[in-house]
This record gives sequence, structure tokens and C-alpha cells, in this order.
Amino acid sequence: MASPLSRLVTRVAYGARQMPRVAWFVGHSLALRRLSEVARRQEGRKARRRPRTDLPVPERNQIYADMAALFLEDLANVEAGVYPLPIDHDGSFATMLHRSRLFFEDLPAIHERRKRRSKTEVLTENTRGKRPRYYLQNFHFQSGGWMTNDSAERYDTQVEVLFNGTANAIRRQALPQLREAFAGRDQRKLKILDLGCGTGRFLDSVKQVWPRLPTIGLDMSEAYIRHAKRELKRWSRISFIVGKAEAIPLPDNSQDAVSSIFLFHELPPKIRRKVLSECARVLKPSGRLVLIDSLQRGDRPDYEGMLELFPQSYHEPYYESYTSEDFCALTAACGLTHIRTVNVFISKMMVFDKPARDERPANRRVDASVATS
Ligand SMILES: C[S@@+](CC[C@H](N)C(=O)[O-])C[C@H]1O[C@@H](n2cnc3c(N)ncnc32)[C@H](O)[C@@H]1O
Repeated sequence: MASPLSRLVTRVAYGARQMPRVAWFVGHSLALRRLSEVARRQEGRKARRRPRTDLPVPERNQIYADMAALFLEDLANVEAGVYPLPIDHDGSFATMLHRSRLFFEDLPAIHERRKRRSKTEVLTENTRGKRPRYYLQNFHFQSGGWMTNDSAERYDTQVEVLFNGTANAIRRQALPQLREAFAGRDQRKLKILDLGCGTGRFLDSVKQVWPRLPTIGLDMSEAYIRHAKRELKRWSRISFIVGKAEAIPLPDNSQDAVSSIFLFHELPPKIRRKVLSECARVLKPSGRLVLIDSLQRGDRPDYEGMLELFPQSYHEPYYESYTSEDFCALTAACGLTHIRTVNVFISKMMVFDKPARDERPANRRVDASVATS
């Protein structure tokens, strides 16, 4: 049991790290809102219609209360020893300023794309055929889609601004689920794969808990993988693959855990099914799959309107189908067992296990051929 003094020190240290960070990104978010209002006013009647919904949208105070609940949960995990006091690795103040500048400089281009509903700039003679067509889009209307170094450099700021500085804390909520699966086992003999690892933020958190755990990040973007390699070079036993989550270049039954964060809402329904089938294939018997992504329809009635507003402001062609996707049915069709689902602020976490070898029904095929919605 920690002494009252060490608890106090932990709390102060936690607050000292997280509060300025939240203030930084909430500040960006408020500035962004102001700039959008100014642009709308300047464009007058020609301005694009404001995003609309008739469904409930949470008040600002509700959002801040839910953010506070998330941070309290994060702190409780630290106090319970589930993970150490987290380091967010946002870079030096100069790096943060640089990324902030990149973020703001890109806003006019995003605004133009949003106005013109232009979303396939990244589909060029150079990229055509090198990536699946569904991937070659300017997701979020962002410059470069997933294809450029600048996009990778801006990404974490964009996500944290969208999430008011909670994105890393949301990702960390997957760690207790992994700890449960890894309990009593030697980390050096385990393996984890993070699908759609992006800039590597989640793997960084994983390594802070299990520095000697062999870890693989897979992403279809060369630029994001390059960025992740640079950001995570402090860690050993970590490797990266530029590849497709729907065709994982790893053997059957090879991973103790597979994680995937903020990927599934960006996948077409058919690809979602293939990716889940691949997760089931590469997991070892008793292996664990942890998914974190947006809330879905019916998860939180008070946030329902947000699910309608989000794809009106950001290019998210598969988001609507994602919000009504039945992951329990899809994973069951792949032979995975649903363990639990937990709402995490504006996200949700879903946990599935692959049955132990002797628990699997005889002749069960790992198959995700559930009808595409
Ligand atoms: C929204 S980002 C999420 C990144 C990261 N997991 C995070 O926590 O922020 C989606 C990432 O998935 C990658 N991606 C999208 N479709 C993919 C696919 N079919 N296979 C592999 N990576 C994919 C993109 O390149 C991008 O880096």
C-alpha cells in the first residue's frame, strides 16, 4: 500500500503533466472554433451550412466532466500500479510549437477542401494502384491523407485537438486489458501487434509498461511508420511493418495480443471483416484482441448527436456504417469470444479473446464471411 505522502506526490506529478497538456490542446480547439466562425462570417451567405443534428449533443460542461472522469480513471490505474506515471512524449516545447504551427498552417487548405467536398487529392498517378482505392482519400480532409511526412508530423496534434488532449489517456485504457491477459507471464516471451499503429503513440505506452515485450506496429503508411520509428527509437524489441491490416504478413497463432486504436471507423465494411478475420488468425489460442474506436449508436444517448456531426465536418466515408456495426457478431463469426465493452469518454473499448485450443468447437472455421452491411 502506498503511503499518503507518495500518493500525494503521484497525484501532483500526474496533474502537473496532464493539466498543462489539456490546456494546450483545449486552447487549440477553442482557437480552431473561433477561426471557423470568422471564416463562416467572412463567407456570408456562400458559407457552407453548419453541421446539423436533431439528436442530443453534450454541453461543454458535460464534456469537461467526462474528460475529468477519464483522467481520474487514468490516475487510478497509475495508483493501482497497472501502469507507471505516463509520459506523453509530445516532444520539447520547440517541437510542440513547430507542430502547432504545422497544424494552424494547414487549416486554410482543410477549409477549402471541406468547402469543395474535395477528398481524393491523394489519388494521383504516383499513388494509384500502390494502395487500395479506399485508402487513397484525404481522410479528415487533411493534406496528404495518410501519405506524407507532413501529415504524420501533424497527426498527433490534430487528434489531441479533436479529443481535447485526452487521446493518449484514451489509448492507455487498453493497458489494463493487456495486463489482465499477460498476468503472471514473462513479457520477453509474449508478442503484441498493433494494427494501424500510426505514429506509434499506443506502442509507446505499451513499452512504458513492458519495455522488454516484443512489439510490432503495422500500418499502411510508409510516412507514418517512418515517423513512428523515429519517435520510438528509445525502445528495443520493437519492429514495424508497412502493410495491410487485411493481409497481415505474420504466421497463424503467432501473437499473444493484437490491439487496434482508431482504425476500424476508417475501414469499409468489407475490409473491417477481413481485418477481424486476420486478427483471429494471427492470435494464439487464449490471445486477446483489444479495439478502441469511436462510440457507436446507442452507446451514450447524450452523445448521439456527435456521431452525426463528426462526419459532416471531417471526411469520414465509412464512419456512419461503423457506428452501427455489430462487432460482437463479427468477431463471433471469426471464433472470438466477447469479454467486455467499456465506454471511454467519446470512445469505446471492446475486448475479445481467442478460445484456448481445447475450448474451441471441433472443426470450427475462422471465418468472417458474415454478410456485409
Ligand atoms: C486514425 S489513424 C489511427 C492511428 C493510431 N492507431 C492512433 O492511435 O492514433 C488510422 C491509421 O490506420 C492506418 N490504416 C488505415 N487503413 C489501414 C489498413 N487497411 N491497413 C493498415 N493500416 C491502415 C492509417 O495509415 C493511419 O495511420
